[in-house]
Amino acid sequence: MAGKLMHAVQYDCYGGGSAGLKHVEVPVPAPQKDEVLLKVEAASLNPVDWKIQKGQLRPLFPRSFPFIPVIDVAGEVVEVGSGVKNFKAGDKVVAMLSNFGLLFDKWGGGLAEFAVAKENLTVPRPPEVSAAEVAGLPIAGLTAHQALTQSAGIKLDGSGPQKNVLITAASGGVGHYAVQLAKLGNTHVTATCGARNLDFVKSLGADEVLDYKTPDGAALKSPSGQKYDAVIHCATGIPFSVFEPNLSPNGKVIDLTPSFGLLMTSALKKLTFSKKQLVPLFIVPKGENLDYLVQLVKEGKLKTVIDSKHPLSNAEDAWAKIIDGHATGKIIVEP
Ligand SMILES: NC(=O)c1ccc[n+]([C@@H]2O[C@H](COP(=O)([O-])OP(=O)(O)OC[C@H]3O[C@@H](n4cnc5c(N)ncnc54)[C@H](OP(=O)(O)O)[C@@H]3O)[C@@H](O)[C@H]2O)c1
Repeated sequence: MAGKLMHAVQYDCYGGGSAGLKHVEVPVPAPQKDEVLLKVEAASLNPVDWKIQKGQLRPLFPRSFPFIPVIDVAGEVVEVGSGVKNFKAGDKVVAMLSNFGLLFDKWGGGLAEFAVAKENLTVPRPPEVSAAEVAGLPIAGLTAHQALTQSAGIKLDGSGPQKNVLITAASGGVGHYAVQLAKLGNTHVTATCGARNLDFVKSLGADEVLDYKTPDGAALKSPSGQKYDAVIHCATGIPFSVFEPNLSPNGKVIDLTPSFGLLMTSALKKLTFSKKQLVPLFIVPKGENLDYLVQLVKEGKLKTVIDSKHPLSNAEDAWAKIIDGHATGKIIVEP
């Protein structure tokens, strides 16, 4: 594909929101030795995409401008690097466009017609599953999986002792996967969401749901009086003092968006040997876990709920929607 141009959406400085996005024609990237070149069929947006644009992850991301954002994609392999063993042109795949190594020297590139992915964060997509369904999985699905299995110790084969789990913002990208995955384990799930999504979150398998704008919802009180062994905290702005009375004696809050104050609380809890813990979570993606999630989608045990689909030519609408923070499920962009 050397010398061929593609349509991409990029920004060239911090800030600017959806108005900062620019439509450009740039060369199709060439895969390195351990990379595959994909023709993108669907990309999914995550809050981290707008947080990077806002400068909240500087100086890690982006490394340089102009920057083509978005790391969750599904597509077809069109070319492989010389060291790639498991893929060939024509394979349908889902990938996370990062290397998550020490240097994070690869990140982004998904808002484009073509993108390069590391082989180790690329997995096959079965023909019966659509590109949009699997494109939602990398960041949101892997985060939900890691929080439940590693941080909360829930076994998704249903074995293990019963645990009471609270999932906040259960209608969002991470939350809607977390509810479904938690119910594969031996759990009782309480979930919070807005009034308009109460039935939706119940339909995902939650045992009880709380409207976060009601007094009981804001207090995170289980309607049936459960004390939570683990909280998968996907919302923001809730102090630890609200969680504490609702936790079981060894209960853990697994916080996906830890603020400085919450990190201080977490350190203090450790120093005082408190049994109730606040655990910050940072995603460490693994190809084998992404493959596991794709298989669950294929078997009908996990679904991606699509909030909305947007053409690449109108990526600004998708970008404004993810910034808005009110998606139900995943926002998808299709070239
Ligand atoms: N640490 C990590 O590695 C990691 C990885 C992935 C994600 N994250 C973070 O996790 C958070 C969630 O990500 P996401 O992709 O799930 O976001 P998202 O899809 O944008 O979440 C949107 C949903 O959250 C609901 N919501 C917002 N505030 C709420 C509250 N106080 N209580 C209950 N529901 C609430 C909204 O409902 P309404 O529309 O009804 O308000 C909406 O349905 C983000 O801050 C993200 O950056 C961190």
